This record gives sequence, C-alpha cells and structure tokens, in this order.
Amino acid sequence: MKKYFQSELYKLDPYIPGEQPGLGKKIVKLNTNENPYPPTPKINAVVSSIIKKGLLKRYPNPTSEELRKTIAKQNGISKDMILITNGSDEGLSLLFRAILAPKSKVVIPYPTYSLYPILTSIEMNGSTIEKIPLLENLHFDFQKLKKSKGDILAFASPNAPTGILEDENELLYLISHFNGMVLCDEAYIDFAPPGSSLIQFVKRYPNLIVSRTFSKSYSLAGLRVGYLVSNEDNISLLNKIKDSYNLGMIEESIAIEAVKDKKYLDKIIRMILKSREHLSIELSNMLFTVIKSDTNFLFVKPPQNINPIELFEYLKKKYIYIRYFKDDICKSYLRITIGSQKENKILIKEIKSYLLKR
Ligand SMILES: Cc1ncc(COP(=O)(O)O)c(C=O)c1O
Repeated sequence: MKKYFQSELYKLDPYIPGEQPGLGKKIVKLNTNENPYPPTPKINAVVSSIIKKGLLKRYPNPTSEELRKTIAKQNGISKDMILITNGSDEGLSLLFRAILAPKSKVVIPYPTYSLYPILTSIEMNGSTIEKIPLLENLHFDFQKLKKSKGDILAFASPNAPTGILEDENELLYLISHFNGMVLCDEAYIDFAPPGSSLIQFVKRYPNLIVSRTFSKSYSLAGLRVGYLVSNEDNISLLNKIKDSYNLGMIEESIAIEAVKDKKYLDKIIRMILKSREHLSIELSNMLFTVIKSDTNFLFVKPPQNINPIELFEYLKKKYIYIRYFKDDICKSYLRITIGSQKENKILIKEIKSYLLKR
C-alpha cells in the first residue's frame, strides 16, 4: 500500500487515555482523575443566554480576552501572561512544537505525565527524551535532574501518577539552573496546600512556563479548557502558533463563571480533601502502602500477598474502574481517583470483600 504520510508516523506510539465508558453506564469511575462533583450551577444561565441571544453565529474572541482578564485578576498577574488553550494538553502541545527544533532534547523525571514523551516523538524530527527515574521513595532525583541539560524540562507538580508535591526550593533551584525551558504542569495544584503554585515565580524565571487546567478542580474535563502562564514575551511567541479560534464562545463563558465562583470551587475541593483523608486511612488499615498525596488521587501499593493487576481486574468486573500502569516503577502500584463519599464506600467495600477471598 502506498504510504502518503511521513514514514516516522507509521512507527509512532499514540497516547493511550484512561478508559471512558459510554455515557449513562453505571460505573464507579476512578481511573482518569476527574472530579466526582458537578461544576458550579452558575454556568447554566450563561449557556442558555448565549444561545438565546443568537451569539453563536459569530466567531469567539480569538484570545479569550475576558477569561484571561478574570484569571489574571484572581492571580495578581497581567492578562498578557496567559494563553488560553483547548484543554491544558493543547498548551503542552504548543509549547513542545514551539521549542523542539530538529534533534532537540526533552528531560523528564520518570514516571511523570505520560503525554510528554508522546509530544516529543510526534514532532518526528529526531528529538529525544531523557528519563530520569524517580528515587525509591518516588521523589524526584534532584541530584541527577540538576546535572541534566536539554531544551525542555517537563514535570507535573504535584507529580502524576505519584501525587507527590516536591519541595518548592528544590524546584526553584532546578529551574534557575536548567539551560532550557521548564514546564511545570500544575493540573492538580488546587488540591495541594494554598500557595504551592509556581505562577508567582514566572516573572522572576524567564524559562518557567506553568500550565493549568479546568478539567480537575473545576469539574470541567468535558469542556476542554486550560491555560499557560509565563512572562509576556514567551506568551506572545506561543500566541503566534495557536489556532486563531482555539476556544469556543461557550467554553470561554463557562470557564469565566467557574473562576468567579471561588466559593463553590473551595467547597468541592474541601469535600475531595476530606474523602482523600478518609480513603487513605481505610486503605492503610487494609495494609496498603499509601503515598502521601497532594492531588485528587492516591497512588497505593496493595499488601504483599495481593497482585495489583488481579485487584484491578477484579474491581473492573465489579464496574469500578481504577488505573494500572505496567512500567517498572509503577507496576506494583494502583492509582485511584478520589470519588464521592458514596463511590469511595463502594470501592472500600469491594476491596474488603476481595481481600477476604484471598
Ligand atoms: C499532569 C496532567 N497534565 C495535564 C492533563 C490534561 O489536562 P487537560 O484535560 O486540561 O488536557 C492531565 C490529565 O489527566 C494530567 O494528569
């Protein structure tokens, strides 16, 4: 068969997202770190108002100006330090495309968010990735990271799938000594103690880009909104390569309402943190090793006599989806998204009954 595409494309491994069962299926879905609670009800009025006013026949604002203003105000930064993207994944993709000239190098702690290696390989230009394994305690190997060189250093903070938030001073030291751009992916930062975000440092470090998403704390994974924060120069360069209208009008308006309703956001975060605490205790009582999490998920090692894949499969048969990663460092762990209290109860009950059968 004639090959119409670049030969590299035929060899590429695509990103494999967590399983998304069909809508309406009764699944306890704890596999993709979504939020179990609905988004703020304030978004309802805004959607119907756009439709009623017949605004959809027009293109949206190309840079999501109002959303940038709203986020900027809340973070005490200028709106020109923000680039709104179609999910934070689009922001990461723009960043990699903008930086990775042929034969560039990306450095990551390993494991971290599994999209970064894919974003490197899809450039199909000989760019390579250096993976610096986590230490045995699952923290970053700062000694090795500090010695590394590359065009991009990318990591999630708190990290995924471990849920660990690294020490701020260590991260800042790393950023100030790295010779290329540093991507600090803060998809889960709202579940960490207030003040943990590195957004406050983007003015001081010209090589720092922070990414954020509405998919986790704001309960808006289906909406696809995220953003990058960096100094004005970096953001204006990235703006050159984004699609003209990368965010729809409805998406922008919903995200604005979500940012404005800080009280609601704080309420659901509190509920998740409470459930996280409760689930950690329950699993520890069942002799799981629970890594201290600053996210909306737990990375846990089942007791010695329990095979993680078998437990994963058992739960799946009971319509409870969690996540298993088969690579070397993760293979003895399971990642469990924090669900609602009711979902956590079902999960605990099924794990207990599995352990009793062993
Ligand atoms: C670390 C990390 N970054 C980014 C994303 C993707 O976020 P978005 O839905 O905004 O594309 C995820 C999704 O699971 C993630 O775990």
